Amino acid sequence: MAILDIMLYPHTILRERCREVTQFDRELHRLLDDMAETMYAANGAGLAANQVASTQRVIVVDPSREDRGSELLELVNPTITAFLGGRVVGEEGCLSFPDIYEPVERYEAIRFEAQDRHGAPIRIETDGFLAIVVQHEVDHLNGVLFLDKLSRLRQGLAKRKMKKRYGGTDLHRRLGEE
Ligand code: CO
Repeated sequence: MAILDIMLYPHTILRERCREVTQFDRELHRLLDDMAETMYAANGAGLAANQVASTQRVIVVDPSREDRGSELLELVNPTITAFLGGRVVGEEGCLSFPDIYEPVERYEAIRFEAQDRHGAPIRIETDGFLAIVVQHEVDHLNGVLFLDKLSRLRQGLAKRKMKKRYGGTDLHRRLGEE
């Protein structure tokens, strides 16, 4: 397994719409293993493939706060099939925006479908933190960022912070080198 570089905003791959996975092969399994390792190394609760420069519809999530690894979900071709309950506002971060946390409004509960690493169907209805993380990560696969959900003012501040800290474009972050 390997820890992958994480693409930082405003890397253009973060705006790409990822492609449906059709091959459930060793390459996909390696990507899933590496994504989980990278998510844990970065101390994140979720990671989408385009954040590690792959444009496949793949996410890994783990909403557990303690006992990391205990609630790992590998979701291939995830789709949210229903938004349920009311809207809730919670503080969100993103591994492509280190150290930026902003209040974001999401649906309280969702139903989603996906496939596991072998192509078998997964259907889950959930609320709480998992529901929020899955909404955030599925957005990534469609080129949508949490930044897009903020007010113009907050967007401007976050963009300036990223530019000041990292400068340039198409940057990535190598864990362990900061
Ligand atoms: Co993110």
